[in-house]
Amino acid sequence: MSLASAVKARFHTEFGELPAFIVRAPGRVNLIGEHTDYNDGFVFPMAIDRAAWIALRPRADNRVLAISIDMGDRREFALDDLPRPSTVDWIDYLIGVAWALQGRGHALRGWEGVLSGDVPIGSGLSSSASLELATARAFHAVSGFTWDAAAMALACQSAENQWLGVNCGIMDQMISAAGVQDRALLIDCRSLETYSAPLPPSAAVVILDTNTRRGLVDSAYNQRRAQCEAASRHFGVAALRDVERKTFERRADELEPLMRRRARHVISENKRTLRARAAMDAGDAAALGQLMVESHISLRDDFEVSSPALDAIVDCANAEASCYGARMTGAGFGGCAVALVRAQSAGDFVERVQACYRAATGNEAILYITAASRGTETVYPQASN
Ligand code: GLA
Repeated sequence: MSLASAVKARFHTEFGELPAFIVRAPGRVNLIGEHTDYNDGFVFPMAIDRAAWIALRPRADNRVLAISIDMGDRREFALDDLPRPSTVDWIDYLIGVAWALQGRGHALRGWEGVLSGDVPIGSGLSSSASLELATARAFHAVSGFTWDAAAMALACQSAENQWLGVNCGIMDQMISAAGVQDRALLIDCRSLETYSAPLPPSAAVVILDTNTRRGLVDSAYNQRRAQCEAASRHFGVAALRDVERKTFERRADELEPLMRRRARHVISENKRTLRARAAMDAGDAAALGQLMVESHISLRDDFEVSSPALDAIVDCANAEASCYGARMTGAGFGGCAVALVRAQSAGDFVERVQACYRAATGNEAILYITAASRGTETVYPQASN
């Protein structure tokens, strides 16, 4: 049963009628442009065909009642008395989004509904962003405020930063909000302007989940952010996005080696991401794949956010003749890699990489061939976006 049918059927069981709305918001995979978003730089993700879904109806009062199929749990809260999170639980994402939307002046109505999702939790495919955006869309459906993808992404990011205490950039929320079917989205993380480009016709995108999750990702992530901020202060600019490659090369010696490597990654990754746009526009899968290979090396050696498992799976992927290029994706330290693969060989690629990774690490990888999907939407009734 599809998730749309699952949330609809459960809604009917719980509330004795069909839902007034069904909304969905996708997870994402980033093709290139890693650890650049919080440097005001460029990212090139796509929304994937896995998403969070909510079937709902408005309530007459100001309460939200949410039933999670996946968590086997039902929770309720009042919009005029939002409980601050103690330990972060699934309902806190909904509460945080309500907080952020109200803080932006939206008058929210209550709703009740059923949630489910198939973005794997904690694997780096942005299950949190998908839950946040689906929640924002549910509030939009019942409250009727204007939907602006960038504004909604910013609200959801602030829920994550300020309500849940997770320091993320804007990429995940922005692509979940604004994804385009069959296209990847180049996002300027300073202006939030987007440019969509079709994936090369000969290529399939494969997600390679190492099935490893590392603790301390948050502290390592925050440390990288602090290092980038220190490097941008050194150059006297607002963000590393503003440092030209030539300036960097001329002045690189002023930085101590670790800081130099961190800055070099961000500056070169922004360049690669813009070059990826040209490759994508030309339908040149080989050129795009090569940029992905270079991105991984830079993340591994200069930014130091890869892991032995990620390196192993990327090496397995890149060893395949059918692979244009592979790299780690997302924050790093575990989780997923992404590969651009000749579409006609994708099935074979999946089997061979699984075997190679098993031989190299003794672990089982989970691989998905994925399609670029639409961003956050109301699926029923079909509404204007
Ligand atoms: C995580 C964050 C994003 C981004 C990536 C790294 O996914 O949520 O904002 O910084 O890491 O590119």
